[in-house]
Amino acid sequence: MKIIIYGAGFIGTHLEKNLAADHEVVLLKTNITSKEDIERDVENFGAQVIVNCAGKTGKPNIDWCEDHKKETLDSNVLGPIVLSDISQAKGIRLIHVSSGCIYQGDNGGKGFSELDAPNFCGSFYSRTKIWAEEYLVSNPHSCILRLRMPITAYPNPKNFITKIVGYEKVISVENSVTIIEDLFRVIRVAIEKNLSGVYNVTNPYPITHKEILDMYKEIVDPSFTYNIMSLEELKKYAKAPRSNCVLNTDKLSQVIQLDDSRVALRKVLEEYKLHFKEMQGKKEGINDSCFCG
Ligand SMILES: NC(=O)c1ccc[n+]([C@@H]2O[C@H](COP(=O)([O-])OP(=O)(O)OC[C@H]3O[C@@H](n4cnc5c(N)ncnc54)[C@H](OP(=O)(O)O)[C@@H]3O)[C@@H](O)[C@H]2O)c1
Repeated sequence: MKIIIYGAGFIGTHLEKNLAADHEVVLLKTNITSKEDIERDVENFGAQVIVNCAGKTGKPNIDWCEDHKKETLDSNVLGPIVLSDISQAKGIRLIHVSSGCIYQGDNGGKGFSELDAPNFCGSFYSRTKIWAEEYLVSNPHSCILRLRMPITAYPNPKNFITKIVGYEKVISVENSVTIIEDLFRVIRVAIEKNLSGVYNVTNPYPITHKEILDMYKEIVDPSFTYNIMSLEELKKYAKAPRSNCVLNTDKLSQVIQLDDSRVALRKVLEEYKLHFKEMQGKKEGINDSCFCG
């Protein structure tokens, strides 16, 4: 397949390497709000699939979006609309990497399914994710994949493990998490099976920050210590409220079986350990990335 990936960030750059093994892939930095430029890319490359990994996620975190609403709106809503219109007009598949941070809570233990209306709009970032989904969902060629708290074996400021290990204090709440390698498997299935509609792409069963940190201490660094803070205390440090939620993965399990989050995390941490020295070198730069869930 000829695949264009937009968004040369954390997920886009890893995805390019992953898909390049058996697809013809380009990772482009074109501004996704420019209809003319995107149409030219699609035409020149002969794209059959577009994967949208572009968006404003904020630096150092989503609080940035509160003060940069225009840029966030352009990239997170207008850009996906442009991609969706082109996908629909040309009959090209659009895979949109979205977020599960549009929910709060665990929905009475069931987790939120793809049919549940979003119930979290506390941050501008989350609201833009909801607006984009609302538009894209009417495009029969689009497939929306919602991830949460991405985790990989490689230290990176956007890797949820690296993030929480670097915080001076961390909250501990049950959340769904996404192992990035599993997200890539889902993207492959979405391409092969022409999936459309919305999918929650998280590993089954939620996990708390504390469980992740305890497993990190056990597997990666026995000298590691951490401090837990309450959600109330987090309010002192974060400008916008954070989503903590559990997603239901029954729909996803109809198309692919993913390891439970604890099993998957253990495997990832075994590999993460191998990159531990590299992570230690980067840790100082990560510590100031503020407290966010
Ligand atoms: N990482 C997470 O915790 C997480 C969790 C759930 C969902 N997601 C979603 O997954 C997607 C990818 O996330 P990520 O972690 O890879 O984020 P990332 O590292 O911030 O990468 C996003 C990339 O998109 C680029 N971009 C922003 N606006 C653009 C535009 N108008 N046109 C073209 N490129 C643009 C960014 O460039 P600049 O840096 O120059 O803006 C950046 O290179 C995002 O939609 C994000 O909301 C991420």
